[in-house]
Amino acid sequence: MEKQVTKKNERVEEVFNLFIKHVQAFLKEAELNHQEYTNFVHWADRLGRSGELPLYADVFLETHVLKAMYTDMPGTQPSLLGPYFIDGSPRLEADPGEPFVLTQRPDEEGEVLYFKGNVSSVDGRKLGNTRVEMWQNDAGGKYSAFDSDAPRYNLRGHFYTDENGNFEVKTFVPVPYSIPDQGPTGEFLEYMDQHPMRPAHLHLMFETEGHETLITQVFFEGDKWLETDVAEGVREELVTKLEDNGSHKEASLNFVMRKA
Ligand code: BEZ
Ligand code: FE
Repeated sequence: MEKQVTKKNERVEEVFNLFIKHVQAFLKEAELNHQEYTNFVHWADRLGRSGELPLYADVFLETHVLKAMYTDMPGTQPSLLGPYFIDGSPRLEADPGEPFVLTQRPDEEGEVLYFKGNVSSVDGRKLGNTRVEMWQNDAGGKYSAFDSDAPRYNLRGHFYTDENGNFEVKTFVPVPYSIPDQGPTGEFLEYMDQHPMRPAHLHLMFETEGHETLITQVFFEGDKWLETDVAEGVREELVTKLEDNGSHKEASLNFVMRKA
């Protein structure tokens, strides 16, 4: 007889059973009625069909997943990966003592930013040769490869820290922007009386041997949207100063990676 192939996944079963246990308590407390359930199913159907499910999840759920995993852990707090990361960014090269230059158009608009950082381990060791992936929006608030005319890898790239864990990259100051608000996600924002803005941020991902990958964001003091970020991605330790240096801006932040 042919052997039965089972797709049973014990983790799925465990998580779903726990989810239902908590949903039962939640339903009692919320006193949800059948019409509200039907409204929810129709809205969730529109959300899926519109392609906004990853956006919705990253705006309203991802921060809670991260907080449950990392609050009070040593090392730099992670922040949202978000829906605008793509694989395959170009490797950037720089002469010794020169900054890396994030991929950009010849006529890229915006304020020039020199961003510096250092990467170390929770044990204090400097993490040289750490892979740093960086991506951000442009002066129009757009991410390349999403709703933008820019080349696919514009304002995206990766590079490696020097032997002391240091790096410097020349880029543009990112801008606050509105998440898409004309579809089912926007409909939900209206129900919640919540604006669609995110504060300006750089996205960074660090990978190095023996350590957990660190995915985080960097924000800037004085940004109007820090306290009410629609996606609740801001963590105090990820907010840095944007210094004015006449012709350009400068900012820096150090990052500490947890052991794997
Ligand atoms: C972002 O960081 O760009 C982002 C994160 C969550 C939802 C939408 C955007
Ligand atoms: Fe972003």
